[in-house]
Amino acid sequence: MNVSIIGAGYVGLVAAVCLADAGHNVLCVEKNPARLNALKKGDVPIYEPGLEQLLAHVLQQGTLQFVSQIKLAATHSQIAILCVGTPEGPDGQADLSQVFSASAELAKYAKDYLLIVEKSTVPVETHKKILALLKETQKKSLFDVASNPEFLREGKALEDFQHPDRIVIGADSERAHVLLADLYRSYTKKGIPIVKTSTASAELIKQASNNFLALKISYANMLAELCEKTHADIDDVTRGMGMDQRIGPSFLKAGIGFGGSCFPKDLAAFIRTGELVGIHFGMLREVLFVNNRQRERFLAKIHQTINHLHEKNIAIWGLAFKPETDDIREAPALYIVKELLGVQAKVHLYDPKAMPVFKKIIKETPQVYYANDPYDALENADALLILTEWSEFLYADFEKVKTIMRANHIFDARNCLAKDRLLSMGFHYVGMGR
Ligand code: NAD
Ligand code: UGA
Repeated sequence: MNVSIIGAGYVGLVAAVCLADAGHNVLCVEKNPARLNALKKGDVPIYEPGLEQLLAHVLQQGTLQFVSQIKLAATHSQIAILCVGTPEGPDGQADLSQVFSASAELAKYAKDYLLIVEKSTVPVETHKKILALLKETQKKSLFDVASNPEFLREGKALEDFQHPDRIVIGADSERAHVLLADLYRSYTKKGIPIVKTSTASAELIKQASNNFLALKISYANMLAELCEKTHADIDDVTRGMGMDQRIGPSFLKAGIGFGGSCFPKDLAAFIRTGELVGIHFGMLREVLFVNNRQRERFLAKIHQTINHLHEKNIAIWGLAFKPETDDIREAPALYIVKELLGVQAKVHLYDPKAMPVFKKIIKETPQVYYANDPYDALENADALLILTEWSEFLYADFEKVKTIMRANHIFDARNCLAKDRLLSMGFHYVGMGR
């Protein structure tokens, strides 16, 4: 079937490519000219394993087209899927300006029926505001607004989109439910379940899921702090907890805390939603508090170990907010690097994918060196910080590391290295709760 996608950011691009690969005729609208031109040529503006190849395939097959005019989307199909950004606004509330302006534009050009689908993450009841706006913009057409939230993870986006645990479809009309069920027919044929709900419930499922995952991480990080004071090992503790099927092992990895474009802003937006209806989400405030404290605690460990940081060279492996992506939005590395530069330390930075984007924010200067490879970052280093658990760091040659560094401190913000082995090799190892 014909389908339109509005916004070719992370989610829009993955959705467009996967739906085109599933046999739909997809029109994807992107308003950023540089991004649009790159995509038309098959250049992927983000790093995501396998995405460039699948994009080339669907472009060649002719099932995906990129355009700049939203007008074309309103007439191409009965379904327009909003994948625009919903960043954090000044008071923590989600900034829905991209959602509203795209919706109003679509309404202007709609023919007789248009189903607008929220795939962007939005606060519960946003659909009512969109619907009011649509009706106000154009009185002749009939509109539905549905919620079909996206649960993909960066770095695993294709796999998550194509093999999700569930597809959530929230709508308040049967027509909208039928259209969206048709869109995902090839997925449901493979046995992927659909969760059919009202629009409001679907909006809430998305935010509630992200917040719960963030809560699990902060719970593990809270325990990590206790482990440090009691000589327990957080990895053993969460392993033991996670084997209880009621708890489960995922999202219990302690470390420097979560980053990324979504958990921090979705938590802030949810707390604000609660305030607006008179509910105090103190538990979620604590999730953010514990998360921020992990970064501070990690930095404090460096200060406690190394005197005179202003004379020191600090090697940093990992700048992305997690492995398999070049996304640095809310990455712990941004905080740590800025703090180290603030005390006049020199930083030697390396990341397999994220250096070009990081360079745009933290410029190369005599105090900031972007290394050619992980070992190059270690020349004359007084400490090595691991801020992202890329597999090439896990399997690095630590005998070689030892010969290059001028001191033996390793600060493992992700608890991803073999502590006992490093200790036996003569390193001074510092983790988070182990
Ligand atoms: P993004 O900001 O990277 O991308 C949004 C894109 O939409 C940009 O390229 C922008 O130019 C484009 N855009 C905005 N208004 C437009 C318009 N009127 N017409 C055409 N293009 C327009 O955002 P993202 O990371 O892809 O996230 C999008 C939404 O999905 C957010 O609500 C986010 O919370 C949610 N989400 C993100 C992820 C993720 O992993 N990044 C996962 C699940 C859900
Ligand atoms: C997260 C959710 O996992 C997705 O389901 C959701 O669609 C997405 O947010 C979104 O709404 O944008 P993502 O941010 O790509 O996906 O990455 P995650 O794998 O969830 O990791 C988020 C952060 O938590 C990373 O910084 C990661 O290092 C950290 N993390 C994750 C931990 O510290 N411990 C863990 O056990 C898991």
